[in-house]
Amino acid sequence: MTIVVTGAAGFIGSNFVLNWLTHSEEKVIALDKLTYAGNLENLKSVEANANYEFAQGDIGDSRLVAKLLHQHQPRVIINFAAESHVDRSIHGPDDFMQTNILGTYRLLEEARSFFNTLSEVGQKQFRFLHVSTDEVYGTLSTNDRAFKEEKRYEPNSPYSASKAASDHLVRAWNHTYGLPVLTTNCSNNYGPYHFPEKLIPLCVLNALNGKDLPIYGDGQQIRDWLYVVDHCKGITTVLEKGVIGETYNIGGWNEKTNLEVVNTLCDLLDELKPREDGKSYREQITFVKDRPGHDQRYAIDATKISKELGWKPEETFETGIRKTVQWYLDHQDWVANVQSGEYQNWLTKNYS
Ligand code: NAD
Ligand code: DAU
Repeated sequence: MTIVVTGAAGFIGSNFVLNWLTHSEEKVIALDKLTYAGNLENLKSVEANANYEFAQGDIGDSRLVAKLLHQHQPRVIINFAAESHVDRSIHGPDDFMQTNILGTYRLLEEARSFFNTLSEVGQKQFRFLHVSTDEVYGTLSTNDRAFKEEKRYEPNSPYSASKAASDHLVRAWNHTYGLPVLTTNCSNNYGPYHFPEKLIPLCVLNALNGKDLPIYGDGQQIRDWLYVVDHCKGITTVLEKGVIGETYNIGGWNEKTNLEVVNTLCDLLDELKPREDGKSYREQITFVKDRPGHDQRYAIDATKISKELGWKPEETFETGIRKTVQWYLDHQDWVANVQSGEYQNWLTKNYS
């Protein structure tokens, strides 16, 4: 049996593939366009694994996807492929519409054609799992209840609007064509291989390089953090036990303000890699212009996946964030590779 994982060279996709190959005999076909965010270094440790194969390509390339599906006859397609960074979507939404909406549409169409060629048994086993985000639900005030699956979609950024559109397409391909889909909506992930455009890896690397730690606005916005491997295990659980056509929220019950997160990173670095001048990394914290349309708070209610499918996060924020900071300290080669050309252009564009 085989699974196709799109966006497999990105942050969560690569963690998923690495985790999958530790517990499953099913072969993984990793499909990735290798945009600035895709990095084959993330998958280097499984390069020689007979159950792993990489294909470079776009989920919107119908011919390529059709060929892959017919060649490998997968039981499952998991769609991680996306443009994922909110700030980039504000600077240039076009790629987000192309990949997140049109790309998902084309992938769904090829999945549907392929599904129609399967035997009755093959159709019973087949799943299309779409990986989405809590950002589609919009923003919360301090006293609002955490997002449940029934929450109305109210996306506020070009990124979240494009993900919301993709979720609707996935739903419609189930309702209209009977494609067996599952959708997961997860909160903010952190962990190894996180590209340093996002808050946590950006601040760890800036701290070590003696640069400012840029906090948007007053730093009081709240995110709900989940260790990436817990997210991957949640996706595997939904794949195994989820009910076709249902959506499942995945979250860590770990709400923190951005300032709390960055202070924690500074304190861990003070302990694990103290500054030469003996001062705290907190001295590098700088408040900068806010993100336009910045959502105030996200919080996921993960009761459904926990009660119905038995999934729970294994890491607390304290254990996961310590592992993560240590991972960046231990992987300076990976860090040096991702901080090359295009990344420097992005920093200039976003922070100057
Ligand atoms: P990422 O930006 O690190 O990785 C995305 C990957 O998709 C990259 O490898 C990129 O090369 C690939 N890709 C982009 N366009 C493609 C295309 N047209 N065809 C094929 N591959 C393409 O993103 P991530 O953080 O790993 O997020 C993965 C998925 O999870 C996304 O769908 C995102 O919306 C969702 N998600 C992310 C988080 C988070 O905190 N990072 C939380 C919830 C949901
Ligand atoms: O909630 C899930 C989402 O989490 C995913 O769908 C997205 O793909 C993922 O990128 C992430 O989105 P965020 O916008 O929440 O993540 P980011 O790391 O960019 O920002 C986290 C918070 O930190 C947010 O409130 C903005 C703030 N921030 C971010 C950066 C990059 C700063 O204060 N300074 C920064 O330099």
